[in-house]
Amino acid sequence: MGLGDRPGDAVGTASAEAHTAGPTSQPGPTTNPVGPLPVGGTDVAGGAEPPGRTRTGDARAGTEPTALTPAGNDRPPHCAPPMPALTDAVERRLLADPLLLRDIAEAVGGPFHVLFPERVARNISAFQQSFRAAGVDGFIYFGKKANKAGCVVRTCAEAGAGVDVASTGELTAALGQGVRGEDLMVTGPAKSDELLWLAARHRALIAIDAIDELDRLTALDLRARVLLRILPEGVTSRFGLDRMELKQSIQAIGAGSSITLSGFSFHLSGYDAVARAEQAAVLVGHCRRARAGGHPADIISIGGGFGVDYLDAESWALFREGLSDRWFHGSAPADDYYPYHFPTPGAAMLDAVLAHNGLAELLRENAIRLAVEPGRALLDRAGSSVFGVQGVKARTAQDDPYDIVTVDGTSLSLSEQWFGSEYLPDPMLWPARSGRPTPTCVGAATCLESDLLSRRRIPLPRRARIGDLLVYPNTAGYQMDSNESPFHELPLPPKVVVREHADRLRWTLDATSR
Ligand SMILES: Cc1ncc(COP(=O)(O)O)c(C=O)c1O
Repeated sequence: MGLGDRPGDAVGTASAEAHTAGPTSQPGPTTNPVGPLPVGGTDVAGGAEPPGRTRTGDARAGTEPTALTPAGNDRPPHCAPPMPALTDAVERRLLADPLLLRDIAEAVGGPFHVLFPERVARNISAFQQSFRAAGVDGFIYFGKKANKAGCVVRTCAEAGAGVDVASTGELTAALGQGVRGEDLMVTGPAKSDELLWLAARHRALIAIDAIDELDRLTALDLRARVLLRILPEGVTSRFGLDRMELKQSIQAIGAGSSITLSGFSFHLSGYDAVARAEQAAVLVGHCRRARAGGHPADIISIGGGFGVDYLDAESWALFREGLSDRWFHGSAPADDYYPYHFPTPGAAMLDAVLAHNGLAELLRENAIRLAVEPGRALLDRAGSSVFGVQGVKARTAQDDPYDIVTVDGTSLSLSEQWFGSEYLPDPMLWPARSGRPTPTCVGAATCLESDLLSRRRIPLPRRARIGDLLVYPNTAGYQMDSNESPFHELPLPPKVVVREHADRLRWTLDATSR
C-alpha cells in the first residue's frame, strides 16, 4: 500500500472534498492521586464537555497549572501545538477512574486496546436515524476491515446492522458473533472460490468486482445474490467494472441464471458527500435499466468513507497553518494527513448525501434500498490504545530540551505511522499529576530508528515517568490493529471491553483476546 493509500482514506490530501477515487525517572504510584485528568471534547452522542484546549490544571485537585493556552502562545518553537482529541463520556469516565486503567494494565502486563461497544451502538443508531428522518429504506454494513474486535461485530448483530467482510476470516468471525449470513456484504477484489462459496451458502450479498470473479461464482452453480461494483466515470481505481465490463456482466446474469442481480455498488476514496450522492443517482439509473431487463435490482450501496471528527477546528487550523519540521524528531511527514477536523462526520454526512439533489426522494420513488458500508465512522470515539512508559530520556533540539519516551509497544499498533503520516490526536498521560509541560516524542520498544508512535514533540502537561500510561484516543478505526504483527516477538496488545454500569465501569477481554 503506497503513501496516502491508507484504507478507507483520502488519497494524498487533507481535503474533505477529495475523492480520487519524549532524566532519570521514578516509578509512578499505582493509583491516580490527583483525580480526573482534564480531558476535553464535545460528544455528539453523549454528555458534552467544553473542548480541553486550555489546560490550566485541576483546581479541585490542587495541581500546578500547565498553562497551555489555546493558541499555544507560550509554546516553545520546537513543540507541536496541543491537539486534544474529542472523546466520548465513557472514555472520560475511564480516564477519571483512579483504579481501572492501572488494574487492566497490571492484569495484561503490556500494551492493550480498550473498546467501548456502547459507543458503537450509538454510532449505528445515528446512521439508522438518518435513514428514518429521510424516509429512506437504508441498511448499514459495518466495514469490518476497520477493526477486528469481536465486540464490535456483536454490537452490529444486536443493533440490527450487517457487516461488510472481505475474507473468509472476516466472514466466519462475523457469523461467529451472531451476524446472519443474509446481513453480510462481501466486498474486496478477486475473492477466493472458498469465500464465494461460503458467501453463496450463507445468502450474503456479494459485490462483484471483475468479470472473471462472476464467472467463478457462476461455475459454483449455487444460488447467489450479487451487486455489480462499478468503476465510476473519471475515477482512477483498480476496483470495479468499467462500462463495457458492466454491460457484459449484466448480460452474463441472464434470465434463468442461479445468480440474482440485486443491484449495484461503488466505493469512493475521500469524503465528499456530493460525489457520493451524484454517483448514487447514477446507480439508480442502472437499477431502472436492469429492472427493464427483468432483474430485481432494488439495492444500491454507496460504500464507506464517512468522515470522523477527531479534532476541533481551532487545533486543526493551528496545526495546518504552522506545520514545521521544527516540531518533529527528524522532519515532518509529507503533507498527507487525514482531515482530522471534519465538520459533518458520520451520520451528518449521510444526511448531506440524502439531501443532495433530492436523492432521498429518488430512492423512495424507485423503491430502492440504500446500503452504506461505514468502517471508521462507526468506530468514532469507540476505542483507545494504552501503552506503558518503559523509559524516558532527555534530548535537545537546537539547545531546546525535550523528552523521548519509550513505550512497551510498537507503532504497528498505530497504523497511521506506517503511511508516512502522523496520528494527530494527542496521547493522554495517565495518571494526571502536577508538573512542567514537556515537549515529548514517543518511541517504540524496538530497535528500528523509525519506529515512533509520535514523531512530533507533543506538549505533555508534565514529564512522563516510568510506569505511567499513555492513552492514544480514538484509535478503533484502522489505527489499533490494521498493521499489527508480532514483530520482535513482542506480544500483540489484547483488546479489553469496557462497559458502563451505574456504580462503576466493568471490563472483560474481547473474544479475540481470550
Ligand atoms: C468497499 C469498501 N467499503 C467500505 C470501506 C470502509 O471505508 P471507511 O472505513 O472509510 O468507511 C472500504 C474501505 O476501504 C471499502 O474498500
